Amino acid sequence: MSTITESEVQHPLAPYKSLENDVLQQRIEAVRAHLGERLLILGHHYQQDEVIAHADLRGDSYQLSQMAAASTKCENIVFCGVHFMAETADILANRPDRLEKRDGRRIPVVLPDLAAGCSMADMAAINQVEAAWEDMSEIIDTDQVIPVTYINSAASLKAFCGRHGGIVCTSSNAKAVLEWAFERGQRVFFFPDQHLGRNTALKMGIDTEAMPVWDPYAMELGGIEESVLENSRVILWKGHCSVHQMFRPEHVEQFRKQHPGIKILVHPECPREVNDLADVSGSTGTIIQTVKNSPPGTKWAIGTELHLVNRLKQEHPEQEIHFLSPVLCMCATMYRIDLAHLCWSLENLRDGHPVNVISVDDDTSKWSLVALERMLAVK
Ligand code: 13P
Ligand code: SF4
Repeated sequence: MSTITESEVQHPLAPYKSLENDVLQQRIEAVRAHLGERLLILGHHYQQDEVIAHADLRGDSYQLSQMAAASTKCENIVFCGVHFMAETADILANRPDRLEKRDGRRIPVVLPDLAAGCSMADMAAINQVEAAWEDMSEIIDTDQVIPVTYINSAASLKAFCGRHGGIVCTSSNAKAVLEWAFERGQRVFFFPDQHLGRNTALKMGIDTEAMPVWDPYAMELGGIEESVLENSRVILWKGHCSVHQMFRPEHVEQFRKQHPGIKILVHPECPREVNDLADVSGSTGTIIQTVKNSPPGTKWAIGTELHLVNRLKQEHPEQEIHFLSPVLCMCATMYRIDLAHLCWSLENLRDGHPVNVISVDDDTSKWSLVALERMLAVK
């Protein structure tokens, strides 16, 4: 009797990988036509063009959470983004009031490739954040510390914020969220992106000396001296985006020298030295809007993910658009969502056996929702 070895078992995705793009596109469109309004495909601006072409709605992280929160007609969401975005969509689309209206029926949220994570989100694990909270409580009064998690984080961190009087922010509302937090406490504990936290707090007039960085791998007190912690206003987490940290101040200087009059447009996940030199800093939605609203002939060097910058170049031939770094930085995990994964997950959904469904457990959902709803209520 012959046995099948593990290497001989074909992944169900394998047949899709050998299909031509035009075939995949037709099959994706066939599923969209079949499911109609029952299907909502959401896409983040960093997705590759061939994938984003099939999205019903596209947006930045904040807009995508609003879309998931507002979804009433659809019965299924397919999220062309990364894991934390799909988790957020699951929490918002399946919140208790929505479930009640649907007689308990859940909207499955599908992430076409489960390996589409976010390396920044992975830099803060819930046990590390809880340990940090406990450690700092020996020096400062944590009742006066408001935890703020960037939406680029696991649902467990959002739940931590919900439980501890905290809130979620995105790159488009970080300043308003920090203001909300300072109305409720003396200090903010901001994770996982130190750059967004620092760039936002600097705009609010907070000194860098009042923003120590908590290193979860340090032996003691996150590597922060007691007196520094006592005088802190914003405790930043030692996390970053590997894509945005590639942009350097020397790139800005070079563009300004070689292209007089050029404007620098960056995402606030870029390091402070780049952010400080930029003309405009904002979320992916703001970046798109800024270019859209600019007159022909405007010259831009843009510091954000490659696919978005290339799309802007194509959509705005009347402007001169450059990528801010000589190194091509793209979000490799977002890029994992390709036509093959999209087609495979859609056809399984149509056939009644959804794959890669992201489902956040009830308790985590409940507390994450508290922190997300606080964010959605901030104006
Ligand atoms: P936006 O919220 O600006 O869409 O950014 C998401 C993100 O992951 C940027 O790296
Ligand atoms: Fe995460 Fe950076 Fe990719 Fe955004 S660009 S999803 S922060 S790894």
